[in-house]
Amino acid sequence: MSFSLHTHTCGELRSDNIGEKVTLTGWVWRRRDFGGLIFIDLRDREGLTQVFFDPDLCDADTFATAETVRPEWPVLVEGEVRHRIEGQTNHNLATGEIELLASKIVVLNTSQTPPFQIEDHVETSEDIRLRYRYLDIRRPSMMANLKLRSDFTFAIRQALHDRAFMEVETPALFKSTPEGARDFLVPCRTQPGHFYALPQSPQLLKQLLMVGGVERYYQVAKCFRDEDLRADRQPEFTQVDIEMSFVDQDDVMGALEAVLSDAFAKVGVQMELPLRRIAYWDAMDTYGTDKPDTRYGMELHDVTSIFAESGFKLFASAAAAEGQHIKAICCPGAGVWGRSKIDKLANVAATFGAKGLAWVAFKADGSVQSPIAKFLSEAEIAALKEAMGANDGDLVLFAVGERMATDEILGGMRTHMADVLDVPREGHDFLWVVGFPLVHWDEDRQAYAAEHQPFTQPVEADIERLESDPLSVGSYTYDFVMDGYEAGGGGMRIHNAELQMRILKLLGFTEERAQEQFGFLLEALKFGAPPMGGFALGLDRVCMLLAGADSIREVMAFPKTSSGSDLMSAAPSEVTEDQLKEVSLRLL
Ligand code: AMO
Repeated sequence: MSFSLHTHTCGELRSDNIGEKVTLTGWVWRRRDFGGLIFIDLRDREGLTQVFFDPDLCDADTFATAETVRPEWPVLVEGEVRHRIEGQTNHNLATGEIELLASKIVVLNTSQTPPFQIEDHVETSEDIRLRYRYLDIRRPSMMANLKLRSDFTFAIRQALHDRAFMEVETPALFKSTPEGARDFLVPCRTQPGHFYALPQSPQLLKQLLMVGGVERYYQVAKCFRDEDLRADRQPEFTQVDIEMSFVDQDDVMGALEAVLSDAFAKVGVQMELPLRRIAYWDAMDTYGTDKPDTRYGMELHDVTSIFAESGFKLFASAAAAEGQHIKAICCPGAGVWGRSKIDKLANVAATFGAKGLAWVAFKADGSVQSPIAKFLSEAEIAALKEAMGANDGDLVLFAVGERMATDEILGGMRTHMADVLDVPREGHDFLWVVGFPLVHWDEDRQAYAAEHQPFTQPVEADIERLESDPLSVGSYTYDFVMDGYEAGGGGMRIHNAELQMRILKLLGFTEERAQEQFGFLLEALKFGAPPMGGFALGLDRVCMLLAGADSIREVMAFPKTSSGSDLMSAAPSEVTEDQLKEVSLRLL
């Protein structure tokens, strides 16, 4: 490509270009005056080039202009590429061997002094970065994140296109389709009292595209969920949404693996296929989570049988009770911690639902320290040490209770302790967690709730227990787990209207309510809906992990704060009375 304003980018010139007359455009990063000589580091998104102004080698106007420029002014410079003088080569910079001997400078605009330095290790609050996001994006690391995201998105589009997936856009103004979060509502001006909902995902629409015969669909789709925000959650985020028809679960997972490994390879990450599949309950029982990071051990062990005859009442009664477990994890090296530091872990465990935290520390000198040591026999301690594979210097943490509760407490503690102990997690970890239960019991709503979503296909053999024992019903579902994050999820769908209605009723819908909300889907299923299944990749999360960032905000151009604000535009903001009137709304 050629441009009229510049011949090269600021990251492009090398010693091969020495002697060439070139023009660069970019922002002044730094200007240094050395007794009548001026150096400017000129920056664009591709890199930095040193520009040199010598009053003996350029005209007086040019030199005078170079003296006036300030950081972040966009300028154009013309000149000749030359070798940097002896001793000035910068091996840390791609253009570090050369500099541009300037013959002309044009100021394209001026700039106020930026509120923070435009460089990678910026010491400013995230709020200031978000308030001036356009300046933050000029920083090389942010620019690299956006480039990585662009490359990965392009690669996955290409991998899907190559396999005959069709990109189809679906509306952003649609009807509420529950995916577990609150909807963002949009009032309809022409139909007072009626609202659109921004889609939590294109789930129902992609199923309808399958009924429509699209067969292989994808979309890089914006999704909207009004939920509590975290480092890996934004109110609007992007999915690579995929659906296929006339396929079974292995077909879908096979196609996804091929697409994902192609796309990851394009950004330099190799994925070994086939990906490991871990059954949901194995993941829960072994790692205490349905999104395990398997790059390190610290696995959960069921040690109930060791304490069947224990002098420690809590353990003995749990061992005797039906459905109660004593589970434990071993934290390497934490056994040498002082007692008060270990005791404080109970506060962390409480955040995962624990009422207390029993522990046994194997001290470096071979002794054992534990608040419950006096109740445990030597044989129990020896059996525990062996079962946990614990060494002297390690700390064993316990959870006692029902299966899910103990799994969740220790799953939380496993991650917490791995972070605190700085357990190495190298490379990327990809796996599937498969076979989620169809539903779980939602204590708050006192009703069954879909584990994945209400349109998931139950395992055929379990359907007869849908009403009598719903918690035992399995489903055709799979989550794509990357480095301990849920990076994507999907499943096979119900393509039979009667079964879909049965499931909606199980989830607490009356027939009338189900028709009101999902009538269009139930009707479409009656017009020859094919077997179908699909998936959605959380693009922001994947890019965050690829970039080695700790928040998806780092890979989004204009993210929102944890309270849902855009600090740059000050959205959300008040609207005028007239605007409200137009959509027939009045504020309370
Ligand atoms: P699910 O709700 O699991 O599935 O979403 C798919 C993936 O999207 C990402 N994700 C998010 N990323 C950032 N911010 C959020 N608030 C957020 N919520 C979800 C996660 C998640 O794995 N329609 C189904 C997919 C299907 O069955 O085909 C769906 O939306 O990485």
